Amino acid sequence: MKVAIGSDHAGFKLKEQIKAFLIQKGFEILDKGCFSEQSCDYPDFGEAVALEVVNNNCDFGCIICGTGIGISISANKIPGIRAALCTSKEMAHFAKAHNNANVIALGARIKLQDSPEEIIEAFINSNFEGGRHERRIEKINKLEEKYKC
Ligand code: RB5
Repeated sequence: MKVAIGSDHAGFKLKEQIKAFLIQKGFEILDKGCFSEQSCDYPDFGEAVALEVVNNNCDFGCIICGTGIGISISANKIPGIRAALCTSKEMAHFAKAHNNANVIALGARIKLQDSPEEIIEAFINSNFEGGRHERRIEKINKLEEKYKC
């Protein structure tokens, strides 16, 4: 399993922490930056991770900024991306089970209900349930076509 990971400066330290966790779990990592805490812009890294996901170069993406909001908004502009900002194990589970999220977003400067590792683990261990949820994903895909977003 391969994971594309990226963050801005606010998420850099948490990116390194999650990277170490995923490596220890046996995942291959595609680190799309940033590579220091020097100020940078989250859309660049949201885009870079999203492209690895839609081009099937990895199994899923993980993106981090201060709140997780800016980088997930950015990644969600790339057609085919379903980036979910998760603050708990429960959200991470449902992001995969119901929304078939292909990118998980975390905020490094906000209070999480569970540890980042527990949240990522819940995402990894959950499966898309399909069925009625498939129909809703299809409707999301149609929105992308309709509004070219
Ligand atoms: C950077 O200061 C901060 O605005 C960014 O990391 C993020 O929280 C934006 O959504």
